[in-house]
Amino acid sequence: MPTTRVASVDDAPAVTALLRANREAFAPWEPMRDDPWFTLDTQRTILQTSLEAHAQGTMVPLVILDGDEVIGRLNINGITRGALQSAVLGYWVSPSHQGRGFATMAVADAVAIAFRELDLHRLQAETLLHNTASQQVLLRNGFRPYGVAPSYLKIAGSWQDHVLFHLLATD
Ligand SMILES: CC(C)(COP(=O)(O)OP(=O)(O)OC[C@H]1O[C@@H](n2cnc3c(N)ncnc32)[C@H](O)[C@@H]1OP(=O)(O)O)[C@@H](O)C(=O)NCCC(=O)NCCS
Repeated sequence: MPTTRVASVDDAPAVTALLRANREAFAPWEPMRDDPWFTLDTQRTILQTSLEAHAQGTMVPLVILDGDEVIGRLNINGITRGALQSAVLGYWVSPSHQGRGFATMAVADAVAIAFRELDLHRLQAETLLHNTASQQVLLRNGFRPYGVAPSYLKIAGSWQDHVLFHLLATD
């Protein structure tokens, strides 16, 4: 059963509540977020912008669900066509629902969307070196690590090395 659906602007209150409640828990895994990030207006705008990008075919913004309840987010970002045919996954799950397989199932949904609906050739994701939970999620979905990118993303205020993972449609 799918655990995701395309996000809507109406999800903004639930997403904002989760980001606010878990601000400290997510901080080590995220870029630095200032106070406006945690407002309903900002999250509504982000969803609106994401849905416009979805309509243009450059991303797929999903919510992760437990039944009808929104418990996380997953984006298929940066859909690139031409010779690359690739996209990048980013996701989070509320700590109240972690360790129950939701991210693993959501990434499986994203893989199906990417290869069956979008007809992409490749998916990429990257994790901090010590983000074992996220690495497990990717490995369980067939992703393979193919290198370490030094100083790749500015997370929690500092440029940090990341493990690069990919999955090919032919895998
Ligand atoms: C990464 C994240 C999305 C995983 O979500 P989740 O729903 O808990 O994931 P799942 O339950 O599908 O799988 C997590 C796996 O990691 C394991 N795990 C969790 N924490 C772990 C740790 N500290 N060390 C080793 N394994 C760990 C779990 O046991 C589980 O594996 P198992 O089912 O074999 O036991 C969630 O922890 C999260 O939102 N973290 C903060 C944001 C983030 O890191 N996003 C990803 C950026 S790359």
